[in-house]
Amino acid sequence: MTASALPLIAIDGPSGVGKSTTARRAAARLGWQYLDTGAMYRAATLALQRAGLSLEDRPALERLLAGLDLAQEGTRIFLAGEDVSEAIRSQEVTRGVTPVSADARVREVLVEQQRRVGASGRWVVDGRDIGTVVFPHACCKIFLTASPEARARRRFLELEAKGQAPLFEDVLADQRRRDEADSTRAVAPLRKAADAVELDSSAMTLDQVVDWIVARHLAHP
Ligand code: DC
Repeated sequence: MTASALPLIAIDGPSGVGKSTTARRAAARLGWQYLDTGAMYRAATLALQRAGLSLEDRPALERLLAGLDLAQEGTRIFLAGEDVSEAIRSQEVTRGVTPVSADARVREVLVEQQRRVGASGRWVVDGRDIGTVVFPHACCKIFLTASPEARARRRFLELEAKGQAPLFEDVLADQRRRDEADSTRAVAPLRKAADAVELDSSAMTLDQVVDWIVARHLAHP
């Protein structure tokens, strides 16, 4: 770690690659805290939907963002004190979050909150732009990938475990749409930071990925 590097592990990558679980476990192993920035974009989307606002209602959107009260305690996400951890995983929020997270003003507000939280270091933070935009001085940047098929397979099994009966082709097509939107948007698109290490987890178990990240961090603190 150079003198100016922040002791923080940034984990970026496409959806369905297992970033949240990996980040949470890596944080637990190091005795650090974990921040799920995707959950913040989801909670902001839920707030917009509940207020019946569209991204075009700029003055109302500004007011909502100015009063946006988000908090994370462990794995739970709170919006104005209410636990919305389940609500932010609904289909409606999952569909709505792509345009909301592409809005420059929304990103400005959430990035500011993320920087405030992580500024003291000893955090593992996962998202799409953590190593490139939010914490460019993080000591450890991981770009976590897996093949589209491997990611869709994991998502498919997750949905099945929840009692749903999805079609694999639908899961894969939905994921491709999100990959495309995340990596081609104008503001903070998903991309690997120049100083990030890329880890292809297609053939790895979750435990192996966590071991790899912790070992890499301990070797290059
Ligand atoms: O990781 P997730 O599926 O919970 O993320 C939800 C959405 O938020 C997804 O469309 C990508 C977006 N996102 C983002 O743009 N920047 C981040 N740092 C984290 C998530």
